[in-house]
Amino acid sequence: MDVMMFCKTDSEVQLMKESALLVSNSLAEVAKVLRAGMTTLQIDKMCNEYIRDHKAIPSFFQYRGYPHNICASVNDVVVHGFPDNKPLKEGDVVSIDIGVILNGWHGDHAYTFVLGEADTTVLQLVKVTKDSLYLGIEKAIVNNRIGDISFAIQDYVERKHQYGVVRELVGHGLGKQLHEDPQVPNYGKRGSGPRLKENLVLAIEPMITLGSREIFTDDDGWTVRTRDGKTAVHFEHDVCVKKNKALVLSDYSIIEQAEKGNQNLNSSYY
Ligand code: CO
Repeated sequence: MDVMMFCKTDSEVQLMKESALLVSNSLAEVAKVLRAGMTTLQIDKMCNEYIRDHKAIPSFFQYRGYPHNICASVNDVVVHGFPDNKPLKEGDVVSIDIGVILNGWHGDHAYTFVLGEADTTVLQLVKVTKDSLYLGIEKAIVNNRIGDISFAIQDYVERKHQYGVVRELVGHGLGKQLHEDPQVPNYGKRGSGPRLKENLVLAIEPMITLGSREIFTDDDGWTVRTRDGKTAVHFEHDVCVKKNKALVLSDYSIIEQAEKGNQNLNSSYY
């Protein structure tokens, strides 16, 4: 397999960290105000303004014709949900995925929030998905292969917890383009795939289902849903490959702090 991977210089990685952190800060703004009764279009508008106030643009808008600024994927929607006018309700599981271009460099990451009281099964799914992302990140070191990341995620999610790993959608390289080589599947074999080089930047994004991993796309051409209608969870980080320990460019701590400070969000799972 021949893939064109663009490794970044240290100063480019620094710029990409700024892009990733603008997404993290946007997600933290969402975490401060998110609650049942809000609509995802309100969140979209808020993020668009926040991103533009910070000298960047939302990268998803008009990407392959995508008609909104962010993706808001609720409950059975796995990814690429359109923001809409429907009020969110107690117990909803809401993945917010945001992309920006700042100084010519992309940031692209996502976080899943739970609104108020929810089943422990759902809370467990959220925790397992987030934990699987970090297990994948641990493998993003020089001389490992993409398959080491993929296997770590799949093994934890499917073998240890019997949840579903979506096959049709994958993580990706990130840089001047939103989607660069290599693809980063959330399933695969140890020691397979392209070898990881220093300063390769990857968007790692497990999409995990409570039930069957089968999905379908709505007639709108974007909205990806679970076939069985059960909940799906999505987390995404921007990660730079390094020698001994991956460098995570995005930052969940600022999102988690806002999440814990918001009484309308459920953070009891960690
Ligand atoms: Co992505």
